Amino acid sequence: MYTLERANNYIKKSSNQVKQGYRHHYHLMAPIGWINDPNGFIYYKGEYHLFYQYYPYKAEWGPMHWGHAKSKDLIKWETFPVALAPDQIYDKDGCFSGTAIEKDGKMYLMYTGHIMGEKDEDIRQVQCIAVSSDGINFEKAEQNPVITEDHLPKNAAPQDFRDPKVIKKGELYFSLIASKAEDGGGQILLYKSRDLLDWEFVSVMLKGEEGEGAMWECPDLFSLDGKDVLIISVEGLPKQEMKFPNTHSVVSIIGKMDWEEGTFHKEKTEELDYGLDFYAPQTITDDSNRRIMTSWMQMWGRNIPTDTENHGWAGAMTLPRELSIKNNHIYQRPVGEIKNYYKNKQSINNIRLKDNSKEFAGLSGEVYALELDLDTKMGKRFELEVRSNEEEKTLITYDCHADLLELNRKSSGVELVGNEKEQVFKRAVYCESENDKLNLEIFVDRASIEVFINKGKFTMTSTIYPKKKADKLKIAAEGEIEIISLNKWDIEV
Ligand code: FRU
Repeated sequence: MYTLERANNYIKKSSNQVKQGYRHHYHLMAPIGWINDPNGFIYYKGEYHLFYQYYPYKAEWGPMHWGHAKSKDLIKWETFPVALAPDQIYDKDGCFSGTAIEKDGKMYLMYTGHIMGEKDEDIRQVQCIAVSSDGINFEKAEQNPVITEDHLPKNAAPQDFRDPKVIKKGELYFSLIASKAEDGGGQILLYKSRDLLDWEFVSVMLKGEEGEGAMWECPDLFSLDGKDVLIISVEGLPKQEMKFPNTHSVVSIIGKMDWEEGTFHKEKTEELDYGLDFYAPQTITDDSNRRIMTSWMQMWGRNIPTDTENHGWAGAMTLPRELSIKNNHIYQRPVGEIKNYYKNKQSINNIRLKDNSKEFAGLSGEVYALELDLDTKMGKRFELEVRSNEEEKTLITYDCHADLLELNRKSSGVELVGNEKEQVFKRAVYCESENDKLNLEIFVDRASIEVFINKGKFTMTSTIYPKKKADKLKIAAEGEIEIISLNKWDIEV
């Protein structure tokens, strides 16, 4: 039997057994055990709360709890007691992903109760509510489950019905819930309520077409810069040239939400991150009205070295990012608060590299931010090697003629092997340099790298697991590349 008490006692007693080698310095992790999706991301009473899918007892997925962390600035997180345990009949096999929302000063969580049966077809997923007046201790509602298979329209599988995202519109609450259509593919169902307890089905908000994945998960919907944006995490989206090579992919759809009809009209669909480890993002706004996103920084269907090498933990969240839309495209920037933790600035300006490579011995480190402005006009290829030692390296390369930026973790350290048909150890994104200039912002932590290209036009997020100290930084050029400026800061939280 899983209870909050058991989970919290276990965490207290066992967290000191976690191995420190790959523990991140400025990315959110749980004290011990497994985490996946961010849940219930909310700005509540002046602080950021982030919950997460959590199995404390092993570095593997198991019956899901909701872990809880809190922060004043999105960077420095404090761990709080586990918020939900799978301790009721209606959530006995897991408290799956969902939302937090404030109502009458209280924090409400809406999550999915996962119930297994003897056979797969006996699985049921139902929606539940938990309430807190202090943002720490939660009570599950007597009315649970508040949405069940009785609320499903035709053609919706009761086995795959999860991850409610709650939005308030005037006096009404809407819940977007991911569903598997019985005739195949993903869809988003829309429900409405006046009190978060009594729900009514409104519409099929959007239905996937052939080739758009087997199931959609973790929907998010918001308005930004005059557009509506729907984000979905898609299981089994087929690879399309350079896009969607991972088992699962995150897709952003810019369009228009018609609240009268309850339907979403698509304008432009894109992959949200071009890395190897990015899934199930959630967004919020805070009192500065920024649209802020964080995401699970891991991928399903691959070994996770902190598990297989017995470190006792698995999974972390990306650096929170601020979103904006320009030219009908989503840009992502690291939240400005990270700069408050920048230390020891080092700068290099106006260096030309011509068919040679240079190790910047003074610029070593394992936890840092790096910003590079390059002039690639006379260049053929630019290569940046980070987190390297004699045998290991993580490579970022730019092909100046093909305008291709590539991130390669083949030699980063412990190998990650996935269930994809072809192993995916590198990814590329087509990004034209702007007037022959390329801007890269790179955030490195003990076991991760996040690359922001041309002020966040594209991002690439990946975990990396060097086997030994890997702190060197090297730059090489084919043809002539000018480093207009290079700035590096250690990050100390
Ligand atoms: C996405 C997901 C969700 C589900 C949760 C279970 O990563 O599969 O759909 O709620 O993880 O942990």
